[in-house]
Amino acid sequence: MDAQAVETILQNHPKDPSSIIQVLLDIQNELYYLPREVLEHVSKSLNVPLSRTYSLATFYKAFSLKPKGKYPIAVCTGTACHVQGAVRILEQIERELSIKEGETTPDKKFSVETVRCLGCCGLAPVVTVGKNLHGKVPMAKVSKILKQY
Ligand code: FES
Repeated sequence: MDAQAVETILQNHPKDPSSIIQVLLDIQNELYYLPREVLEHVSKSLNVPLSRTYSLATFYKAFSLKPKGKYPIAVCTGTACHVQGAVRILEQIERELSIKEGETTPDKKFSVETVRCLGCCGLAPVVTVGKNLHGKVPMAKVSKILKQY
């Protein structure tokens, strides 16, 4: 854990329970996840019960309790994407990055997970990388897409 980075983030916000979400967002952006010891430290510093901090950290999709890459990759495996070869796209990404679903690359650049329907089935197969959505992803383009990051 980068304790100094967490301290700096805490100093940039009022030492008040109302700062909790913004502090957690900043830490997520800095470390790409919320380590347990950081949640404990933030709870104490902002005087927020640990149970409340945990429920916020698990409720919002923006937060992750497990390490994620700077560019989290989500491969849609909903029905439409599945039919269009989502599993093969996932396998190709796993091969390119030498990690499995649920894992993060050693340089913390990418992590890979699957999701159920991103709500744009007409673009199947769909992959998101960070905030970007890639639709109608052909197998041959997987490598090119990853190289953009
Ligand atoms: S099934 Fe993939 S976007 Fe809907």
